[in-house]
Amino acid sequence: MAVRKILYASDPKLRQKAKKVKVFGPQLKKLANDMIETMHEANGVGLAGPQIGVMQRIFVAEIPEEEDNPLSGKPWVMINPEIVKRTVEMEEGQEGCLSIPGWVGLVNRHYGVEIKARTVSGKPIKMKVTGFLARVFQHEYDHLDGILFVDHISDPEKLWRLDAEEEDDDDVYVFEEIESLTA
Ligand code: NI
Repeated sequence: MAVRKILYASDPKLRQKAKKVKVFGPQLKKLANDMIETMHEANGVGLAGPQIGVMQRIFVAEIPEEEDNPLSGKPWVMINPEIVKRTVEMEEGQEGCLSIPGWVGLVNRHYGVEIKARTVSGKPIKMKVTGFLARVFQHEYDHLDGILFVDHISDPEKLWRLDAEEEDDDDVYVFEEIESLTA
């Protein structure tokens, strides 16, 4: 296993649509393991192929263990995922991104989704997820289509730096910088 380099949001690869995975085999398993290791090393809860420059429809996700949630506390590898159902109910929650280090924002997402995908061995799976894991799945799924969480935020008040010691003006300036990436 190896830790891969995570691309910053300004990299054009993060704005491209990833292609479907066609070959399931040892290479794909190695990629999935590298992605899990990279996500763990960066203390992230998800990582998508394009974030390490791999333009394939694959993401990994793992949320901290939650009581009564058997889907939490373990890594998920989703290949060629498709969100097939979305709850009407939306929920606003905090998000960050390993490609936009130091920034957090409030993003409105579907409270629950049903997702179809293949496992790393090519087995079809279907999962119903809600809450934080559903949020992470939607965020990672977006990466496969070149969408970043900041694209969902239009109110600058809903995006801020993790270290709150910056001047307000500075924050607005950097927000504009991020905005320019989303064009
Ligand atoms: Ni992200």
